[in-house]
Amino acid sequence: MEGLTTASSSLPLRPPGPKNTRPWLGVLPHFRKDPAAYLLSVAREHGDLAYMRLGPQHAFVVSHPDAIRDILVTHQNNFTKSRMLERAKVLLGDGLLTSEGEFHTRQRRLVQPAFHRDRLVRYAADMVICAERAGLTWAPGAALDMHREMTRLTLAIVGRTLFSADVSSDADEIGRAMAQIFELFDTLLLPFSDWIQKLPIPPVRRFEKARDQLDRIVYRLIAERRASGQDAGDLLSMLLLAQDEDDKGHMTDKQVRDEALTLLIAGHETTANALTWTWYLLSQNPEVEARMHEELERVLGGRLPTFDDVMRLPYTTGVFAESLRLFPPAWAVGRRAKQEYSIGDYAIPAKSILLLSPWVVHRDPRWWPEPERFNPDRWRPEESEKRPKFAYFPFGGGARVCIGERFAWAEGVLVLATLAQHWKMRLVPGHPVATRAVITLRPKHGMKMTLESRISDAREQEFLRMLHKNKGAARRRLPGIQNEMDYACRIISTSMVRSTSSPTRKPPASRATLKAIPKSLRLIRVLAVAPRRMLPQGSLASPVSSSTFRFTSLVVP
Ligand code: HEM
Repeated sequence: MEGLTTASSSLPLRPPGPKNTRPWLGVLPHFRKDPAAYLLSVAREHGDLAYMRLGPQHAFVVSHPDAIRDILVTHQNNFTKSRMLERAKVLLGDGLLTSEGEFHTRQRRLVQPAFHRDRLVRYAADMVICAERAGLTWAPGAALDMHREMTRLTLAIVGRTLFSADVSSDADEIGRAMAQIFELFDTLLLPFSDWIQKLPIPPVRRFEKARDQLDRIVYRLIAERRASGQDAGDLLSMLLLAQDEDDKGHMTDKQVRDEALTLLIAGHETTANALTWTWYLLSQNPEVEARMHEELERVLGGRLPTFDDVMRLPYTTGVFAESLRLFPPAWAVGRRAKQEYSIGDYAIPAKSILLLSPWVVHRDPRWWPEPERFNPDRWRPEESEKRPKFAYFPFGGGARVCIGERFAWAEGVLVLATLAQHWKMRLVPGHPVATRAVITLRPKHGMKMTLESRISDAREQEFLRMLHKNKGAARRRLPGIQNEMDYACRIISTSMVRSTSSPTRKPPASRATLKAIPKSLRLIRVLAVAPRRMLPQGSLASPVSSSTFRFTSLVVP
């Protein structure tokens, strides 16, 4: 297929596609079973443009990068978001993901500064703190659901960076609410779902309950901020203080709620999935994992990463990029034609749905030789240059491109760089791995993985000896540790974390290890740690020095 012509009603042809199996439903039952796999089979069989009927909807699967560019960028004004995202309004209201037209442009302008580079530099420090804190609660040999762990982590990151709030205590509630919401979204794909939504049936009831739970959390964040009267300089303050240029009015709580909930959900669900699939892919490709470890050791030399390191870690970035290629969290981007449109020789009637699927295009052997192979070397600049731009579009494109794209790249690479220095994850034998494509591409059965520490007990003891003799060498061996104080702090805080978390998490430091720390140091730390633990959550100042930094990151439970 080449390029795109402007709309012309003289194009009568309908592209090839799968035959309808049910008179009313078209191919909907097959599509619903495994939508991403179905789209792939349709594209493989029928080519770059395929037609199918999904219930009452006429749907076109578009799989050529040039046609995708034209829809997302060149002719973007001819399209609105698909019905599925419009339906997300029952949850997200008129937030950035779901709003359209001038209102969307205004809201996007308002939210954009929260993602400027200088902000990202600050967020990066928080991303690393949150990742390190998560890793500190893990114990070697424990089997954890990595999807759950990554969801908690990415939620903590978005809460801390965009809302200056500790939402980790809400993580389970948000997780449960999200699971209920995803259940209903399955139902919303059915024809006549607009009516289904109004019925008092159990899935609708559960959805409403879940939405109320999320509302409670977000309205609480808004009320707390309004009550404090503070400008925390974060996204939430920006939304609350923003004034309309025309009428000088502020946003209502409902408008702030819609934007805040959108960012809370869009900002953690996708990245959690991406990271989960990355740990899975690394566990299946030990040679890739070893090369990533080598890069981390060479570039970071054992220290914690910063925003500037993202540029210095091309292989690790390639690992994350390759994971987004094979398991794109937004597995399909949908659009609806406002007026008749044409692609090549084919007419696309007004109101048709266009489905553009990263899952499909990212597996096309024309752009990706051996497409199922996890190969971060594809991301070397000389390889990337050979591909059409929209052969890869995990973040969409055009005016509706993901606002959090740079945030997500930084987060992905920094979380990998922080956790992979300490930990290796191995899939629990026999754990079933399958995708579930609803709104995002989730692991259907979670991702049960066993943790292996990359820092053995013997190495830890050796480290301690080294710490007394040669600080520089020691620092390079144990990531993030700058001096004995940091190390003592780490051991003690680990024991404290243990007392507040589950038995699968890290055991207290062994007697021998504790003994190796000078008594006076231990005492100082315990005295210093205790009062801080009594402070309200989130009241610790941002990092000022290396040891304060470590202190806040290690000790606050
Ligand atoms: C790996 C992680 C992520 C992926 C794969 C991803 C993917 C996407 C895609 C494909 C779109 C465009 C949807 C469309 O055109 O229909 C989008 C939009 C959006 N994303 Fe992301 N996203 C990610 C992370 C984030 C993060 C971290 C945030 C916020 C902190 C975020 C916030 C948003 C918002 C608000 C929109 C709507 C933008 C608009 O329409 O103006 N996303 N995302």
